[in-house]
Amino acid sequence: MQIHLYDSAAQVGQAAATLIAAQIIAKPDSVLGLATGSTPIPTYQELIRLCKGGVLDFSRVRSFNLDEYCNLPVDHEQSYHSFMRQQLFDHINIDPANTRVPDGNARDQAAECASYDTAINQAGGIDIQLLGIGRNGHIGFNEPADTFVYGCHIVNLTQSTIEANRRFFESESDVPRQAISLGIGSIMNARRILLLATGADKAEAIRAAVYGDINPKTQASILRTHPNVIFLLDKASAGLL
Ligand code: PGA
Repeated sequence: MQIHLYDSAAQVGQAAATLIAAQIIAKPDSVLGLATGSTPIPTYQELIRLCKGGVLDFSRVRSFNLDEYCNLPVDHEQSYHSFMRQQLFDHINIDPANTRVPDGNARDQAAECASYDTAINQAGGIDIQLLGIGRNGHIGFNEPADTFVYGCHIVNLTQSTIEANRRFFESESDVPRQAISLGIGSIMNARRILLLATGADKAEAIRAAVYGDINPKTQASILRTHPNVIFLLDKASAGLL
């Protein structure tokens, strides 16, 4: 694994966007694994800038998002469908038909999970997977657990995640309790993984992921076994390394 340290969250975003841009330039029909949350926003801003400046062409790019809340309407302003449109898709020349975010409202959740993993495989697999990390070490919505789950699945969110995401909703009771998430196997199948972390509140999760046991209690710890993973960290999130 490689770890790169930066002074600011903006620089983390520029570094991640540079690596994603290089991927798209080298392979214009790249398959991107995308993430939501506050951390990737500077990355998306830089990708938008490169696209608007004529440097990047997303017309043949395909994307799969990591996760989505269950039982939240897709047009709810806090859905990850909305987030992706607002923060990236509406500002670049990606074909909406080439973007997929898991359907958290599927009547048949098992069928949606299976079809999501199948669609990634049929697209040829993910070339570059962008990840944030939860304060509890989660990646996607793979919460601390006794096992690593391989494929796309339904997750009960932990209290720590509900509290972390409460800031986006009017009250804690409005935060969805379940989500649909790529599994650890689907994430680890990506050919390259970029994990981004910014802020001191991620320092313990980063310490546990880098130095702790490889253990599903810190789901991100498994990334150390991936042959091509890069952690892009600001100094605050790297404060315990
Ligand atoms: P954040 O979320 O970027 O909003 O901190 C990251 C995560 O929970 O994976």
